[in-house]
Amino acid sequence: MKTTTATAIMDVTLGDGGHSLALLEAMREDAWVLGMDQDEDAIKRAQARLAGYGNRFRAIQGNFGNLVSHVAALGVKEVDGILADLGVSHLQLNEARKGFSFMTSGPLDMRMNKNLAMTAETAVNELSENELADIIRAYGEERQVKQIVRAIVSHRKISRIKTTDQLAAIVQSAIRQKDAVKSLARVFQSLRIFTNKELDSLRQFLPQAVNLLKSSGRLVIISYHSLEDRIVKDFFRQEANPCICPKDFPRCVCGLEPRLKIIGKLVRPSEDEVFRIRTARSARMRIAEKVQA
Ligand SMILES: C[S@@+](CC[C@H](N)C(=O)[O-])C[C@H]1O[C@@H](n2cnc3c(N)ncnc32)[C@H](O)[C@@H]1O
Repeated sequence: MKTTTATAIMDVTLGDGGHSLALLEAMREDAWVLGMDQDEDAIKRAQARLAGYGNRFRAIQGNFGNLVSHVAALGVKEVDGILADLGVSHLQLNEARKGFSFMTSGPLDMRMNKNLAMTAETAVNELSENELADIIRAYGEERQVKQIVRAIVSHRKISRIKTTDQLAAIVQSAIRQKDAVKSLARVFQSLRIFTNKELDSLRQFLPQAVNLLKSSGRLVIISYHSLEDRIVKDFFRQEANPCICPKDFPRCVCGLEPRLKIIGKLVRPSEDEVFRIRTARSARMRIAEKVQA
């Protein structure tokens, strides 16, 4: 892997390597990309796809919530840009054995990293009724929570819920049929976010990303869920304006300096992008630049 003065970008949600590929194509020939993903299958696929870029590309398996320790182990001290495209990939969704989708039949797993202790199956069968309701309400923003959770709990008293099909059928039996697809999507999304502790990882990642950036380096986050976007928005605002002095103080005495400058406004996908990629419709992109120390 190249180091020193060449442009260095981290793609912390490597997925199928689409963004990394675009970056490698767009940048000068000495620029390099370090990809990261917690899913070992994604790492293997992207490594094969980007093998032609030689030492301009390298991929590591890990959770971006532990960003600093992963890059420190590689001897990387700072980078010019960090990109996070949050959530789940199309490939993960379509892979039945990962259990992310109600459209494919598979085990109720949903772990992006196979080493995680808790699966969606454990959550659905072993959490209390209240805990399940909180998860589906908070991460799924689903309204028919009570009916759904009641159906899950009465089913699991008889037999353990082990597959995506079983869960989908139970949810469908409990709700208004005209809302079925949206409710199924929300229930599955909420269990995925919970199983992978996605919001915790994002909160841990953001300050580490700022530390890893060079001055004037950029942090770009694409999120698909209102709670994720809220975490990013609040973090950027706080880092861009950390001063805690009372408003009527003539000058700042707290000494807290901005570490980020917010670049532009929230970016939403164009109509054309949504037409081409339906899942892009909920994407929200925010960009910030590290302020010179
Ligand atoms: C939306 S996909 C990224 C797609 C990618 N931009 C591409 O061009 O193919 C999100 C990816 O991030 C990974 N991921 C999600 N949370 C992660 C985390 N906390 N740490 C590392 N990887 C994560 C997922 O496993 C998935 O492969």
